[in-house]
Amino acid sequence: MGNFEADLIFSCGENIFLPVVDSWIVIDVLRATTVITRWFELDGPELFPVKGTNEARQLVTKLKELGRKPLLMGEVNGIPPEGFDLGNSPVELNKELIKNYDCGVMSTTNGTVALNQALESGSYVVAASFRNASACLAHALSVGPRVGLLCSGRKRRPSWEDTLLAGAILEELNSLGQVLMTDSAKIALALWKNRDENLEACVKKSEHAEYLLRIGYENDIKFACEKNISSVVPVYGIVRTDGWSDYPSASLKAVRLSGPHVKISQAPEPQKNPGLESPVDPFEELLAYTKKNSPDFFLGRKN
Ligand code: MLT
Repeated sequence: MGNFEADLIFSCGENIFLPVVDSWIVIDVLRATTVITRWFELDGPELFPVKGTNEARQLVTKLKELGRKPLLMGEVNGIPPEGFDLGNSPVELNKELIKNYDCGVMSTTNGTVALNQALESGSYVVAASFRNASACLAHALSVGPRVGLLCSGRKRRPSWEDTLLAGAILEELNSLGQVLMTDSAKIALALWKNRDENLEACVKKSEHAEYLLRIGYENDIKFACEKNISSVVPVYGIVRTDGWSDYPSASLKAVRLSGPHVKISQAPEPQKNPGLESPVDPFEELLAYTKKNSPDFFLGRKN
């Protein structure tokens, strides 16, 4: 039985303070992290999550100049912006479509903003949905016992469905040992423990789900409520140390844990960021450096 620490942020936002943790589990159930999970379930290539639609369009132009074949997807107010190849619906993704591209560029209202804020914190970052929650927790714990749950929220406010998923992850974490939780984490756990039995019916109570239902995306909600059926873990890490200033320094790639319904007891040995292009893992180096050079780096504690 382990000893863990868990913190939770209810929504991303320009001035949020991200405490130092070993890893951030970024959550955007409706729909960014569900889309990202689906992308890698379908063996999608590297995926660049960017904060805004113009930044996304500019990155696509740059990638094409470099000879890449990017797919541009995302949403504003839930629907695809002008000129995007796809919106932000996980059920619209399929292998036939994805195989025509060698990378993806994604921009959404909250989810891609939260991913980039987590990356800027310097901690390890994974993207979780209900589909891959257990696998994400298993992989996050292979990096360290201090877990942060970053809920993307909705328009900079807490989101019902993201908080529910965070509570589900915290329930699993509590089944593994002692967890020192912040109040925000305790609130999410209480919400999950007091939920309606039917997850889809419960998620459909959220503001965002009600909006998506109105604009015709009910199937996305059903899809997003399929629990622990995927063992892909999207990791958002620094991938280039070759100084290619034309590329963003980071992208999402998939770690694939063994077998579906991965439970923590099967958590893999701590592993390097697989799938990184550089033989030296810059992320591990960064983490080691920060631990060595600022001993009180983690949660204000002396290591
Ligand atoms: C978000 O970024 O909050 C969602 O992806 C929005 C959506 O997909 O409707």
